[in-house]
Amino acid sequence: MSDRKTLLRVTRRGLLSGAAGAATLAVAPRLMTPAIAQAAPFKVGLMLPYTGTFAKLGQFIDDGFRLYVEQKGGKLGGREISFVQIDDESKPEAATDNVNRLIGRDKVDLVVGTVHSGVAMAMVKVARDTNTLLIIPNAGANDATGPACAPNIFRSSFSNWQTTYPAGKVMVDAGLKNVVTITWRYTAGQEMIGAFAENFTKNGGKIVEQLTLPFPEVEFQALITQIASLKPDAVFSFFAGGGAVKFVKDYAAAGLNKTIPLYGAGFLTDGTLEAQGAAANGIRTTLHYADNLDNPANIAFLKAFKAKTSKDGDIYAVQGYDAAAMLDVGLTAVKGDASARDTLVKAIAAAKIDSPRGPLSFNKAHNPVQNIYLREVRNGRNELVSIAQADVDDPARGCKLT
Ligand code: PHB
Repeated sequence: MSDRKTLLRVTRRGLLSGAAGAATLAVAPRLMTPAIAQAAPFKVGLMLPYTGTFAKLGQFIDDGFRLYVEQKGGKLGGREISFVQIDDESKPEAATDNVNRLIGRDKVDLVVGTVHSGVAMAMVKVARDTNTLLIIPNAGANDATGPACAPNIFRSSFSNWQTTYPAGKVMVDAGLKNVVTITWRYTAGQEMIGAFAENFTKNGGKIVEQLTLPFPEVEFQALITQIASLKPDAVFSFFAGGGAVKFVKDYAAAGLNKTIPLYGAGFLTDGTLEAQGAAANGIRTTLHYADNLDNPANIAFLKAFKAKTSKDGDIYAVQGYDAAAMLDVGLTAVKGDASARDTLVKAIAAAKIDSPRGPLSFNKAHNPVQNIYLREVRNGRNELVSIAQADVDDPARGCKLT
């Protein structure tokens, strides 16, 4: 279903149940808490990339969030949910204006965003300055749950450190000692490669060369030629969205997938496999999700997501879905009254969510504590190989919250 249609449907259901609610109130006024029954909908501002290299990622987060709210009949904690959305285009230079528009003009109660680490850090600054509730449904910028951590800021996703640190040991254990890294030159690329290198070198691995190109460029040819001549044991990479599709295809087209194993952060092959096709076969990655996680929450989630969108769910959809589950925990704790901010925040911080990814809880900086899985692409799916590291907790370096 298209976004617009979803918006209309949620809004119309909101109006209908609002009318039904008013009728109930007229008949039996003592059965409801008048302040909450009459409260305006709780307004969620979705600030996501709906265009550009991360467009599909943003759309899946949006779909996942709305799916959860629809499953709860359009209400969380008894409070009607409404939406506004803005396309951040993964452009850091427009981020401050965009988030200010949501907070200042649209007067949202919560901002949910975004995918790109640079955009997210601008959002974090505004959220801190205005004390606005923010749930980050993807961007891994370490600082958001590090030095910039705050009571009103949560993440339903991961820190950049968290997803790739376990891969350092995985590769050494697989006998891959000389590795070339390749990524985009921006926060997420630098931090993911940095965490990989931290654990890889600690376990005796050697980084042969660190290759980069500016975000969101996709002219990989010269770098792939360089990899071929360096002949490392393996390559470790971070790309995502449209860029990941092109990198994996170019790598296979050069024949390197037959001679130099390609590893990466799981974003390399999540939400991208349909477009990558056979070029992705055999790629091994680490992430807080695998398509075939055999738990009831994942099975039910994938079925419902497919029914809503006709698409296969992925980590981005899960992160959107769980962001709504977090809001549900918070609004339920205050019976829909978001002005009880301290209680709402404490409830989310203490939440234990039965996520499609497995058990999900939060550390003192409000970053998920979660398993990181080793996956391999087989038959167009990111299949579970093993738990690379259980209950991985970002060190939250620099976070002063207790
Ligand atoms: C990020 O910029 O933090 C980022 C972007 C896309 C991903 C993962 C992380 O898939």
